[in-house]
Amino acid sequence: MYLLGFDVGSSSVKASILNGETGEIVSSAFYPKKEMAITAKQAGWAEQEPLGWWENLKLATQEAMQAGNVSANAIGAIGISYQMHGLVLVDKHQEVLRPSIIWCDSRASEIGQNAFETLGEERCLADLLNSPGNFTAAKLKWVKENEPELFDRIDKFMLPGDYIGMKMTGEVRTTISGLSEGIFWNFRENGLSEMLMKEFGFQDNLAPELVPTFGIQGLVTDKAAKELGIKAGIPVAYRAGDQPNNALSLNVLQPGEIATTAGTSGVVYGVSDTVKYDPLSRVNSFAHVNHSEEANRLGVLLCINGTGILNSWLNRHVGNETLSYPEMNDLAAQVPVGSDGVSVLPFGNGAERVLENKEIGAQISGLNFNIHDRRHLFRAAQEGIVFSFRYGMDIMKEMGIDAKVIRAGKANMFLSPVFRETLANISGATIELYNTDGSVGAARGAGIGAGYYSGFEEAFSGLKRLEVVEPDQSKVKATEVAYQKWLDTLNRFI
Ligand code: XUL
Repeated sequence: MYLLGFDVGSSSVKASILNGETGEIVSSAFYPKKEMAITAKQAGWAEQEPLGWWENLKLATQEAMQAGNVSANAIGAIGISYQMHGLVLVDKHQEVLRPSIIWCDSRASEIGQNAFETLGEERCLADLLNSPGNFTAAKLKWVKENEPELFDRIDKFMLPGDYIGMKMTGEVRTTISGLSEGIFWNFRENGLSEMLMKEFGFQDNLAPELVPTFGIQGLVTDKAAKELGIKAGIPVAYRAGDQPNNALSLNVLQPGEIATTAGTSGVVYGVSDTVKYDPLSRVNSFAHVNHSEEANRLGVLLCINGTGILNSWLNRHVGNETLSYPEMNDLAAQVPVGSDGVSVLPFGNGAERVLENKEIGAQISGLNFNIHDRRHLFRAAQEGIVFSFRYGMDIMKEMGIDAKVIRAGKANMFLSPVFRETLANISGATIELYNTDGSVGAARGAGIGAGYYSGFEEAFSGLKRLEVVEPDQSKVKATEVAYQKWLDTLNRFI
């Protein structure tokens, strides 16, 4: 049996087909070939059209099916990974009412902060594990306040992956992990948070029906089957936000284990069995894919919004020739640790939760026109991203999450030796790189959800460790010095 997994990101949608028996990746494809647009009508806003995700998902599916020579009948189950915290709204005909307000849109920060103050730190943190912050619930409240007529037409709110699930199965459903990522979930009572729904004036029936993260969530309709080029009736058997899913893809499920990713945004994600939260919500906690009433499995997440997006910005705008990413990485490697004094703060993709939702923009500091060239910028950008990981990991450490081993897929910025070595040197952790990514993780999740695998162990038999990066003691000190300089720069802005 073949398993089809999707990763619906903010720059592209990737589809992967996995051979369920051998665990091998048969084929993968992503669309669009450039990058999906993010529309910002005002500074701090970020929107995308849900239909754009679906159109790209269809193209990626067709290409992956063709590339793998997989017949429409061969797919046994589907899994969905999706960009987190976004808001999608539909009316009772399942028509989308407005563009999605996506994860890096910070328009609702003030609403979340006010709710946090009204509800009180203690109740928010004990029940919700977070401040309502800038998450999905606060975004929905923004719509209520600013687009009241549209708000009245809402039948259901949902997360981006729930929308994809709806397009496939015709069912509007979500998961506990999804509701908790949107800060709608009460962990003490194990239900939709009445306190939050009341505070924001939302009716309970705006929330979709709950389905388990792993399990039959709906069956592909005739219409969707035609559009995708697969058989009708296939179960959608798994969905999760891209960060919990990235952890799943790396078999990071148990307390103390850590996953990371460095795509458009970068995340360090630790699993905990005790309710942990940061009073300042600089890192946030929610239900991991294997959370249950019996056993807490919480994801503690640090997100740096400006990660790969900084690298791709440099790629597009610095120099008069377009370089490939490997070429940029080679140039970055020609410069010593610390980039000869250049520091880059990578915070140019909206407000950063780790900086308490401050929007400080990206900053370049220490540039000398007689010494530096683009190589320094390329290296300082990669170092700056890693240093912002370290900054957040120090907060995670205060919450008891101490990284000794960090797992990542060998993809995106982890393809850069400078990036992964800097991370090992500044965290003191061993970095393990694996042959997986979000879409492959989602395919494995589908195999688990459909009951095809007996459990996680069997599902991950095809997961291979490709490379291990240990801290290089000869560079640890210089990296720490560069980090302190970077921190001084950051402290000038926050
Ligand atoms: C995680 C976050 C981003 C999105 C990107 O909290 O906001 O990493 O998941 O899709």
